[in-house]
Amino acid sequence: MDIKITRSGEYIERFSTKGLVISHICSGDGTEVIHHKLEAGFRWYIAPEEGWLALEYAHILAGELVWKKQDEDVVLRPGDSISAYMITEMAMFVASKDTEFLYVVSRPYFHNYSGSIQKLFDLAVKIEEKDGYTSDHCDRIKRLSVLLGERLGLSPYEMYILSLAGFLHDIGKTQIPEHILNKPNKLTDEEYEQMKLHTTYGKQLLHDTGMPDLRIVGDVVEQHHERYDGKGYPHGLQGDQISKPAAIISIVDAYDAMTIDRVYQKGRPRDVALQEIERCSGSMYHPEIVKVFLSIGDQLA
Ligand SMILES: [Fe+2]
Ligand SMILES: [Fe+2]
Repeated sequence: MDIKITRSGEYIERFSTKGLVISHICSGDGTEVIHHKLEAGFRWYIAPEEGWLALEYAHILAGELVWKKQDEDVVLRPGDSISAYMITEMAMFVASKDTEFLYVVSRPYFHNYSGSIQKLFDLAVKIEEKDGYTSDHCDRIKRLSVLLGERLGLSPYEMYILSLAGFLHDIGKTQIPEHILNKPNKLTDEEYEQMKLHTTYGKQLLHDTGMPDLRIVGDVVEQHHERYDGKGYPHGLQGDQISKPAAIISIVDAYDAMTIDRVYQKGRPRDVALQEIERCSGSMYHPEIVKVFLSIGDQLA
């Protein structure tokens, strides 16, 4: 018999992003036990995967996790657990307090999740600095997109895709030459054409991971500069040809770009930015989504 003792704080591998720390604490025979630490207000998802007959089990250790079902909220407290065999639908959970739970899954989960996503997250954060944002741009886009998506009644799966795409929207800028990315004055036409390619590069990077969910995220990322009137790029899609998550991200991204302080430039006040978004409703942005965005104006930083 091979007995292994894991002391508090020890783990095999760890992945962390803002609001979530997941630690792979033991595995064997295709089953993994993963400790999750989720900060209040953050979300966690269980995603179905085609062809997997997996058991999934979560046991709450501390805090409170709310399972957002379509017609009701189910509150899970310490000692409670949920288990499912063969997940067919995405489930979304929100921590209403700082929460810890164990997640047991009979398929290799941790590596998939941590390997590709951690790399992409690191890249996205590097880009926000090069892009002239002080910090947290990716986090703010993710947070505001999710807030807006929730108001629009997106499904748990769309919310999951939206939160990843929000964080990773400009990941394709890793392929853009630095002298263009960092150029303090206006880009030439040729440079602008190159800059526009970050949408397609982003999609490619996400498709290259081979993970089905990230492929869908890639499709959203490719569309985040499309415009409602069809004058955007890269494909000139219009109206509802643009996916909802992409239409959400384009509004939130524009709002953030206007309001945030850059190294050499102070951001505009919230109300001025909201007026500008409203002015471009129906041309740049989806009018229905703008309406909802304006209605949550008081929750925006
Ligand atoms: Fe972009
Ligand atoms: Fe952005």
